[in-house]
Amino acid sequence: MSLELPSAPLLEELLFAGTKAARLGGAMLESWRSRFTVTEKSRANLVTEADFASQKLIHETLLSQFPDHNFLGEEDLTTRPTSSPFQWVVDPLDGTSNYVHGFPYYAVSIGLEFDGELIVGIIYDPTRHDLFTAIKGQGAFLNGQRLSCTDVTRIEDAMCIASLPTATSTSDPAVKRFLSMIGRSQTVQRTGSAALNLAYLAAGRIEAFWSSSLKPWDMAAGVLLVREAGGQVSRLNGQSFDLYQPEILATATESLQAQIRQIFVETT
Ligand code: IPD
Ligand code: CA
Ligand code: CA
Repeated sequence: MSLELPSAPLLEELLFAGTKAARLGGAMLESWRSRFTVTEKSRANLVTEADFASQKLIHETLLSQFPDHNFLGEEDLTTRPTSSPFQWVVDPLDGTSNYVHGFPYYAVSIGLEFDGELIVGIIYDPTRHDLFTAIKGQGAFLNGQRLSCTDVTRIEDAMCIASLPTATSTSDPAVKRFLSMIGRSQTVQRTGSAALNLAYLAAGRIEAFWSSSLKPWDMAAGVLLVREAGGQVSRLNGQSFDLYQPEILATATESLQAQIRQIFVETT
């Protein structure tokens, strides 16, 4: 039996705390902009001092207020003090390659699960001071303005973005899927921040986003934003979305889900 969702005042408190942590993390990223060094975790998979400093600050901020909550962060920071139903799922810097190159498309992403359900999502872009927020059942917002996915139904009219694996090869099925959308969609991009891509879908700036190689911290906050903005989220084959599986297909409308899935079936 699932647990009763937290009360409205508690949800507000959780959003407030997550927002504070995201803003602090974002400010930390900006403070490291001119002095970081780069390490390769694996081929083309970069990390900097800024990733760790942002994560440490976010962890301290959240856990000082909610010491019993679980925390799952990308940079090897997982803490499970109790069997609390709350778990923060955090990417302290989504888009590290962009950050390293001074390409201003990266963000802090903070999602909160309650009993396995996404209930709060925050994505903060510190270069534009864009704060994307959502509470389950209460809509999605950008700097306080309500967001809505577009109503585009034809793939020919859709701006799409894909996330490819970090070090990929031309024979990878993900690359084949990417190529299959060229000429079918209006345009298809690869931008380097899955979290911001999902936030942009919620904001009606793009119509579709997909990947087969993501982690929970790339998607947690963004998935809630898309759902709360009226969009659709599934796995690539149409099965129910699972945060702990690497696949996602997020679209503005159900019609786009069907068309993109069909193109992928024809491709692979
Ligand atoms: C990456 C970004 C990128 C996606 C990669 C992720 P990171 O996250 O979200 O868009 O294609 O798979 O690893 O490493 O910059 O946090
Ligand atoms: Ca990431
Ligand atoms: Ca990251």
